[in-house]
Amino acid sequence: MFVIGIAGGTGSGKTTVVNQIINELPQDEVCVISQDSYYNQTDNLTYDERTKINFDHPRAIDFDLLVQHLTDLKNNKIIEQPVYSFVAHNRTKDTIKTHPRKVVIIEGILIFNSKELRNLCDIKVFVHADADERLIRRVRRDIKERGRDIDEVLSRYQSTLKPMHQQFIEPTKNYADIIIPNDRYNTVAIDIVRTVINDRL
Ligand code: C5P
Repeated sequence: MFVIGIAGGTGSGKTTVVNQIINELPQDEVCVISQDSYYNQTDNLTYDERTKINFDHPRAIDFDLLVQHLTDLKNNKIIEQPVYSFVAHNRTKDTIKTHPRKVVIIEGILIFNSKELRNLCDIKVFVHADADERLIRRVRRDIKERGRDIDEVLSRYQSTLKPMHQQFIEPTKNYADIIIPNDRYNTVAIDIVRTVINDRL
């Protein structure tokens, strides 16, 4: 099994890169696990308390379960990937049965903060986009898809997203084997990743 880790700040375009990679592979040869599915279970908190969680700090993530699941996939076991709701700010009761595949993509803003996860990745990719681009994408997405308003998105950006990005996300660029600039046309970088995958398959 070949594990590709894809990190990068919020709005950097990780999903686009993931899609560009999986589009080139047969469907039954690839699966994706997302760090967002592994936010800590917070059934004990009220909705108001959950809105105050710092979702951009590594301690918000259940890295133990994430590492466990990736290890299970490596050992050819099926996992039940949690499903997270950005509206309720909590894990739902659903899970998605995820089968081990030849290529496993793990994506998320904070994944390279975990040494165990880094060690499980065969190739580490960091998707870069400038902060203003990321903010623009984040505003659009949170309003359209995650039920937020502009004030909420902007104040969260200033109070949390920006400082957490500087403290915990940007420094993990140093662990990357490949940095993909996602502000512009990036087919060359994607081709390189694809070539590495094809070599290994
Ligand atoms: O898709 P992306 O990598 O941007 O997702 C990570 C972002 O999701 C984090 O920046 C975090 O602030 C945000 N998030 C949120 N509400 C939650 C959980 C995470 O806005 N309940």
